Amino acid sequence: MALIFVDTANLDEIREAAAWGVLDGVTTNPTLMFKAGTANRKEQTLKIVDIVQGSVSAEVISTDAPGMIEEAREILSWSDHVYVKIPTIPEGLKAMREISSWPNGRINATLIFSANQAFLAAKAGASYASIFLGRLDDAGLDGMEVVRQTRQVFDNYGFGCAVLAASIRNTVHVTQALLAGADILTMPFPVLKTMMHSPFTDIGLQRFLDDWAKISAK
Ligand code: E4P
Repeated sequence: MALIFVDTANLDEIREAAAWGVLDGVTTNPTLMFKAGTANRKEQTLKIVDIVQGSVSAEVISTDAPGMIEEAREILSWSDHVYVKIPTIPEGLKAMREISSWPNGRINATLIFSANQAFLAAKAGASYASIFLGRLDDAGLDGMEVVRQTRQVFDNYGFGCAVLAASIRNTVHVTQALLAGADILTMPFPVLKTMMHSPFTDIGLQRFLDDWAKISAK
């Protein structure tokens, strides 16, 4: 089963997506909090948890391992639904190693741009490896190839870490990430909306309704 997350801290978007009944979780980051107009990470995260009752990722701000560990301890105490996002840098790996030894050590390793980084995050005990495929594509590289490689590496060695396709830009990315075997896809709300849209569906539905109206008027 592939999980669908929305990549936003906007409560209206999250409410609408949750109402469709297919939403499994939410990812946030400092930029998304900024866009949602709040610096109260705890309050916003708990509001999101209330809506989705699924996995909700909140990111640390510290860049040194002791600081990340301290923040993670607090963030993970907010709710059993919360995953702590740790940047995949050397200090982040140190922090992941420690946090993953805790009973509630749910880690979303973020800012991953290569299968090697994903491999290291999985070894350090991350639950999710977030591959920023759209940003790779933006730079003229092949982001989906990193998703494919990571899937293969995790399968080759039996890592339980989930392959999370992040930084999704469009619905083509969604299909490709599913075909590449991503476990989780996190996408902006407009992409989720577009997934449901086909003009052929609208035209087909209208034709059914018109024909039904004609026959039932007889
Ligand atoms: C992942 O969890 C990140 O929040 C996200 O996907 C980043 O995407 P962006 O490249 O659109 O900022």
